[in-house]
Amino acid sequence: MENLYNQLLQNNKKWVASKLEKDPEYFNRLSLGQSPPILWIGCADSRVPANEIIGAEPGEVFVHRNIANMVVHSDMNMLSVLDYAVNVLKVKHIIVCGHYGCGGVQAAMTNKHIGLIDNWIRHIKDVYRFHQEELNAIENEKDRFNRFVELNVVEQVLDLGKTSIVQTAWESGQSVHVHGWVYDIHDGLIKDLDITLRDNKSLSDVYQLDI
Ligand code: CO
Repeated sequence: MENLYNQLLQNNKKWVASKLEKDPEYFNRLSLGQSPPILWIGCADSRVPANEIIGAEPGEVFVHRNIANMVVHSDMNMLSVLDYAVNVLKVKHIIVCGHYGCGGVQAAMTNKHIGLIDNWIRHIKDVYRFHQEELNAIENEKDRFNRFVELNVVEQVLDLGKTSIVQTAWESGQSVHVHGWVYDIHDGLIKDLDITLRDNKSLSDVYQLDI
């Protein structure tokens, strides 16, 4: 355990050395500021490291991660990240990236009581309830699980569109595209669900704000 811990600090020193070897100004340049064009909202799962799977370097993607890549509209952490990304960094793309095999989504399909996390998972259970007709009709449990992962991403993309933050940006003419992706932990490939939002027109009428 102690070895692993020390190894992390050693790894950091090696990483710094390798970056400086290629570019002596690397950290000086990064220290000047950031203007990433992308906000990533992904799962906290250790197998889905945002930058690595899309080949992004430090400075290229603003990242928010939580269990099951949720956009919960009372989550101050998510809202602060979103507000900063849209209104200060002026990101052009927001990507919600779920992943097959997501433990949070799987737990939401069961009646298992885990602890405090039950309350977070309730938001995912809501997604099941919205789509229960489609999901209950899928007999194969793995297929149902996979589809649930996808539908959870769809709902989070819509939830981003419903925020006053994103709708205000759209209304002011700022180009913000909200995308839904699913990462496959079995082969490393990302599937674009092709559900990109560019305005509030595809939201249910009651969510369209007069801004
Ligand atoms: Co997950």
